[in-house]
Amino acid sequence: MKSKQVVLITGSSTGFGRLFTETLARKGHTVFATMRDPGGRNAQNASEIRALAEKDSLPIHVLELDVTDDASVGRAVDAAVAKAGRIDVAINNAGYYLSGLEEAVTTEQAQRLMDTNFLGPVRVNRAVLPHMRRQRGGVLMHISSGAGRVVLPSVGFYCASKFALEALAEAYSYELAGQGIESVIVEPGQYETPIFGSTVKAADEARTNTYGAVKEIPAKINAALSSTAGNAQEVADTVLRIVETPAGERQLRYFVSPQNFGVEEINALSKQVQASVIEAFGLAVDTKFRKGKAAGTV
Ligand SMILES: NC(=O)c1ccc[n+]([C@@H]2O[C@H](COP(=O)([O-])OP(=O)(O)OC[C@H]3O[C@@H](n4cnc5c(N)ncnc54)[C@H](OP(=O)(O)O)[C@@H]3O)[C@@H](O)[C@H]2O)c1
Repeated sequence: MKSKQVVLITGSSTGFGRLFTETLARKGHTVFATMRDPGGRNAQNASEIRALAEKDSLPIHVLELDVTDDASVGRAVDAAVAKAGRIDVAINNAGYYLSGLEEAVTTEQAQRLMDTNFLGPVRVNRAVLPHMRRQRGGVLMHISSGAGRVVLPSVGFYCASKFALEALAEAYSYELAGQGIESVIVEPGQYETPIFGSTVKAADEARTNTYGAVKEIPAKINAALSSTAGNAQEVADTVLRIVETPAGERQLRYFVSPQNFGVEEINALSKQVQASVIEAFGLAVDTKFRKGKAAGTV
């Protein structure tokens, strides 16, 4: 690994993204802290990050990036590459939580959630991969969730967005390993960030109201998640560790959580099952990590 990495982070205005920015930059990594609308809704967040960078001489650059907009993603990635010459790590962090009984979630709400939590990383990965292939290395990091491996009632659409992200990130890991590019998944449990305050609620209340006692489930879950939430710095420290791990030695999945709901067991079993599936299809050689190799690429 080169000692200092160039890292692009989505959703850096608040929460994990903001913590990742500061944690990585304090270790000397160059960070492109991207967010939507840094001149408007996030003006205050953008200027706080810039002020911190100025005060402590940290290598942080704030860029505009809305993960639901292809052109915005393209502009941010081009600007980062123009400035730093490369992107070593792309952290797909932007996302939000949707809570409510599944029948009460409208199609439009479901589409919007998938557009951010799932298609956002699709856009970012498609924009950064040509650069990573040219560099013959890089890391696609995906901030999934414990809810990308286990399911709770009233969290179905959020879980679906993270399950989808997990599947995509795992498929990328097989396809890109031969080109020296790693795809990794971080699965945080519940941590204190603004996420619970900005939760979107299922819009169709008339449907919710027909569910009797079951309609109280979202509130019970949200209270349990908020009251047991851990210190988000644990997740930032995990991300730092992943960024600083030498190429080829990273795991596919990192579960980090105040509580283990059995996710580690699922991951361990999944690793075994997937290895035999890959073997059964005769793909073990094609999916092996090869440092610095860029077979069939630009
Ligand atoms: N906190 C937890 O317990 C927890 C657990 C597991 C996984 N996660 C995941 O961690 C990630 C970060 O969440 P957080 O907990 O740090 O919550 P957060 O503070 O609410 O951060 C979410 C970030 O995503 C950004 N975002 C939303 N839509 C966007 C878009 N279209 N384009 C660009 N940025 C967008 C938000 O930006 P704006 O300021 O513009 O809204 C914000 O910066 C999410 O993917 C979440 O699912 C969180």
